[in-house]
Amino acid sequence: MGFWKSLFSGSQASPSPSVQIDAPAVEVSGNFNYNGHKSSESRIFFSTDREIDLYELEELCDAVGWSRRPLRKVKKALQHSFLVISMWEERGSVRRLIGFSRATSDHAFNATIWDVVVHPDFQHQGMGKALMKQVIKELRSQDISNITLFADPHVVDFYRTLGFMADPEGIKGMFWYPSR
Ligand SMILES: CC(C)(COP(=O)(O)OP(=O)(O)OC[C@H]1O[C@@H](n2cnc3c(N)ncnc32)[C@H](O)[C@@H]1OP(=O)(O)O)[C@@H](O)C(=O)NCCC(=O)NCCS
Repeated sequence: MGFWKSLFSGSQASPSPSVQIDAPAVEVSGNFNYNGHKSSESRIFFSTDREIDLYELEELCDAVGWSRRPLRKVKKALQHSFLVISMWEERGSVRRLIGFSRATSDHAFNATIWDVVVHPDFQHQGMGKALMKQVIKELRSQDISNITLFADPHVVDFYRTLGFMADPEGIKGMFWYPSR
C-alpha cells in the first residue's frame, strides 16, 4: 500500500491524451449483493468519462485507507491519463462512485494501470475483477498489447487471477527515487 501511495504522489509524466475513448457507460452483468441489499434495487455500470468529482474520488480512496493526495495533482493525473474507468452504483436518481482505475500509456505499445480500487462495501463480489477486465478490454480495443502494473504485496494474487505475471522471464521492475 505504501508503495502505491508514494507512486501516486510522485509526478506521472504522460502525453496529453489525443485518443478519445469516452464510450457510453457499460453495465456490469451479474447479480451483486452488498450490505444485505439485493442488486435488483440498483444498477452497476462503468464509465470512461474523466470528469469525476474529485471529492468523491477522495472519499473512495479514504474508504480503503489510502493517504490523501493534493487534489490539483489528482486532477492533472486524471487529465493526462490515457484511460480513466469509474464504476458506479445507481439507485433511483442517486449515483455513487464505487470503483476506480486509470492507465497511462505511450498510445502505441504500452500501458500501465494505476489506482485500482473498489469500495469496501462492494469488495469480494467480483467487482474488482469486472473493473480490471473492463480496463484490459478498453486498452486492448486501443491495440495496446503490453499492460503492466505495480501490485502491493497483499494483492499480487488478485492480479494473478486476472492473468498478470510477476517478473516474466526474470524481468525486474526497477525504481528511482529522489535522495532525501
Ligand atoms: C484489490 C481490490 C481492487 C479487489 O477488489 P474485489 O472487488 O474485492 O475483488 P474481486 O471480488 O473481484 O476478486 C477477484 C478475485 O481476486 C481474489 N482477491 C480479491 N482480493 C484479493 C486480495 N487482496 N488478495 C488475493 N486475492 C484477492 C478473490 O478471491 C477473487 O478470486 P476468485 O475469482 O477466484 O473468486 C480491492 O480489494 C481493493 O480495492 N482493495 C483496496 C485498494 C487496493 O489495495 N488496490 C490495489 C492496489 S495495488
